[in-house]
Amino acid sequence: AAVHHHEFVIQPTPVNRLCQTQHVMTVNGQFPGPTLEVQNGDTLIIKVTNAGKYDISLHWHGIRQMRNPWADGPEYVTQCPMKPGVTYTYRFTIENQEGTLWWHAHSKWLRATVYGALIIYPKQGSSYPYPKPKREYPLILGEWWNRDPMHVLRQATITGAAANVSDAYTINGQPGDLYPCSSKDTTIFPVEAGETILLRIINAALNQQLFFSIANHQMTVVEADAIYTKPFTTNVVMIGPGQTTNVLVTANQPPGRYYMAATAYSSAPNVAYDNTTTTAILEYKSAACKSKTGSPMRPILPQLPAWNDTNTANAFKAQFRSLSKGRVPIEIHENLFFTINLGLINCSGPSFRCQGPNNTRFTASMNNVSFVFPKRNSIMQALYQNTPGVFTTDFPPVPPLQFDYTGNNTNIVTIEDHPMHLHGYHFFVVGSGKGNFNPRTDPARFNLVDPPERNTIGTTPGGWVAIRFVADNPGVWLMHCHLDVHIGWGLAMAFLVENGVGKLNSVEPPPPQLPQC
Ligand code: C2O
Repeated sequence: AAVHHHEFVIQPTPVNRLCQTQHVMTVNGQFPGPTLEVQNGDTLIIKVTNAGKYDISLHWHGIRQMRNPWADGPEYVTQCPMKPGVTYTYRFTIENQEGTLWWHAHSKWLRATVYGALIIYPKQGSSYPYPKPKREYPLILGEWWNRDPMHVLRQATITGAAANVSDAYTINGQPGDLYPCSSKDTTIFPVEAGETILLRIINAALNQQLFFSIANHQMTVVEADAIYTKPFTTNVVMIGPGQTTNVLVTANQPPGRYYMAATAYSSAPNVAYDNTTTTAILEYKSAACKSKTGSPMRPILPQLPAWNDTNTANAFKAQFRSLSKGRVPIEIHENLFFTINLGLINCSGPSFRCQGPNNTRFTASMNNVSFVFPKRNSIMQALYQNTPGVFTTDFPPVPPLQFDYTGNNTNIVTIEDHPMHLHGYHFFVVGSGKGNFNPRTDPARFNLVDPPERNTIGTTPGGWVAIRFVADNPGVWLMHCHLDVHIGWGLAMAFLVENGVGKLNSVEPPPPQLPQC
């Protein structure tokens, strides 16, 4: 296995989009950041220098980091952030994982521009469980603001109101033809007529689930969150922030230029969203040549579902099956029941924090607890060194209040599809449904044969989802909604996993240079 050395310099960079230049944080001046390509079994050594003005940490989304929670990265959870001027080196080894993952900043809203693809190829001598595609492309969906996203966040935190929605969606950093000043930089994916390509779709958007389609072309889903799936064919992909979806596309249409497009799936009926559409172009090579003689052929736009088409989103999610069978844990040692609530609380404090509806501010909770990140230490360091006062372990295993998701509880702003992400694990999605979970009848319908394995799953709006995992990776592992606006409101919790009661001795010792708060 190989060892890959990389240097990441996090720096303010002028980036021109939508006719304006913003100074945003990037890695090495690149937006999106560098693509990391490795093989299963390889080791990554990434020396990160914070040459920006904000505290920052990086997260390798979906990497299991077995016995090495120190490298996971969420600020104040497994490490203190790197202060401006600090250099720190992340080291980790890929153990039995292959597929498309990604990396991103895990501090405030810095991941709006600090992200990139992390592609793990099969080991030498092993191959994909599908015919090798002729070409492969990462396709990273993102969101762009006409301001520094950190300012958008600060504004929302100060006022307690909802944050401004983005000004554009992007594909590999570019908004595309339908936005002002964007046409000449539209991302182009070249194909040869007749060949099959692999698109590694990553949703790096900060706050938005997205629908994605390609005009006149079907997609065959073969992998999600770096786990192979039983192939299925679809016209539209719904993808939540944090998720990855690999699709095969065969260039079987008349040679030409076809739009690939993504737009919002917004499951919450009364929450503002960015209703614009980003495009890239699937370009047949012969068509590109032809266009030299005349004007380029105008691409065809795909049909995208309506922004609130929850039926299409749910139908898409329901098609996922894992390719390998018989790995689902059957014996359950702990049953946990979590409720997710978005709410408004009345502000009695200073009025500048109360610019939500009717003198309120936004809040989010799990089992009625709003997560607050520690400030002077990370949970992992505190757990490892037995430092008291950094976190509490009284998180209720069941909701403390009678809770009805279907009713119009006055505390609930909205029901919504929350892309819930668990660090350090893949979990089996054994069931989901609408309305309240029924512990007597619903488990009988769980798929314990070939459920999909994911690291991020959307909760059915106004419904439930059941996941199972074996707690075989000791450390501190954050679980949170990957709509970042909800993390700030408290939609997070952490699993403390020991390797025996009170034991963490199978965890590697902390790296010597681990940043201090
Ligand atoms: Cu992709 Cu906690 O993050």
